[in-house]
Amino acid sequence: LILAITLPIGGCLPRRVADHEQWAPEERIILTFSHVVAEHTPKGLAARKFADLVHERTGGRVEVQVFPNGQLVGDGEAEIRALREGRVDMIAPSTGKLAELFPEWQVFDLPYVFADHDAVVQAMEGAIGERLFKVLRRRGLMGLTMWDNGFKQMTSAVRPLIHPEDFAGQRFRVQPSRVLVEQFRLLGATGLTIGFDETYRALEVGQVDGQENTPSNIYSKKFHEVQRYMTLSNHGYLGYVVIVDADRWRNLDEEVREVLTWALEEATRWNRENAGRLNAEDLERIRASGHVEIHEQTPEERAEWAEALRPVFDSFLTTVDDAELKLALEELK
Ligand code: LMR
Repeated sequence: LILAITLPIGGCLPRRVADHEQWAPEERIILTFSHVVAEHTPKGLAARKFADLVHERTGGRVEVQVFPNGQLVGDGEAEIRALREGRVDMIAPSTGKLAELFPEWQVFDLPYVFADHDAVVQAMEGAIGERLFKVLRRRGLMGLTMWDNGFKQMTSAVRPLIHPEDFAGQRFRVQPSRVLVEQFRLLGATGLTIGFDETYRALEVGQVDGQENTPSNIYSKKFHEVQRYMTLSNHGYLGYVVIVDADRWRNLDEEVREVLTWALEEATRWNRENAGRLNAEDLERIRASGHVEIHEQTPEERAEWAEALRPVFDSFLTTVDDAELKLALEELK
C-alpha cells in the first residue's frame, strides 16, 4: 500500500506570524540558560520544558534560550563566574559543582546518606535546603529550585567493583568536590577532578580508570563505550540547583518573575516525576549495548561500602561552620 501524501510547499503558504514578532524589540526579554549535559536527560529536558512553558504563557514576549553541553559558558566555576558577570542569566549546576565556592552544598555528594529519593527531597525541602539557599544569597546568588538527576553508579575499565578493596590503586574522575575526592581516597583509589565534557576523553585515553555518574549522563556521553564494568551502587545522589543573580532577578518586572516562577514549578514537577524513568530507560540502553558487564550490588555489599565510607560524613561535618546547618546535618547521620 502506498500512501500518497501531498505536502504543501512551505513557501506557498501564507506565512504565520511567529509569536515573538508581535512584540516590539524593547518589549521582549531574552534570558539565556546554560547547562552542561545533553538534551535528552532529566536536566536537559526540564530546561526545555521550562523554556517552552515561558514561551507559551507569554506569547513569545519572554524567551528562554537554552544552551546544552556547556557550549555557552562552560562548566563548574566558569559557569558560575559567567552568571555573576552577566554573560548568562540562568544556570543549573550540580551540587558538586558548587562545592568550590559553596562547600556546604557538598552535603548532597555524601555517599550512602540518602537512602532513597524521598530522603533527598526531604533534605531539599527542609532545614538543610533552607540553610543552603541562604548560603547562596549571602554571595548575591539566588537558588530558585532544585532538580533531580538521580543516583550515581560506578564504572571501571579495570575490574568489577564488588568489594571496597576492588577500588585499590584505580583513578576515578570526580566533580570538583572534596567530599568526592575523600570518598575515593577511603576506598584506596584516587579521585581526579575533570570537567564533564572532558570525561569521555579521559576515560578513553586511560587518564582515569573509572567514574561515577547516573545512567542518563553515562549513556548520553557514551562513557559506557570506554568502560568495561558497571556496579549499580546508587551510592551518591546527583542533583541540581537552578540559580540566577539575585540583583538581576529583582530587576525583572514582577509579572515576568511570576511567570518564570510558575514555569519553574511546573518544570520541577515534571523533572521529579520523570527523572527516574529517564535513568531507567538509559540503563536499559547501556545494558543492551553490551559494552559493560553490569553488577547489581547486594544489600551485604552495600553495607560494606557504606561502612568503608562512613568517615566522609564526619570529616565533612568538621568543615561546616553554620551552626543551624550542622544541627540539621546531625539528623542525617
Ligand atoms: C558531572 O560533571 O558529572 C555532572 O555535574 C554533570 C551534570 O550536570 O549532570
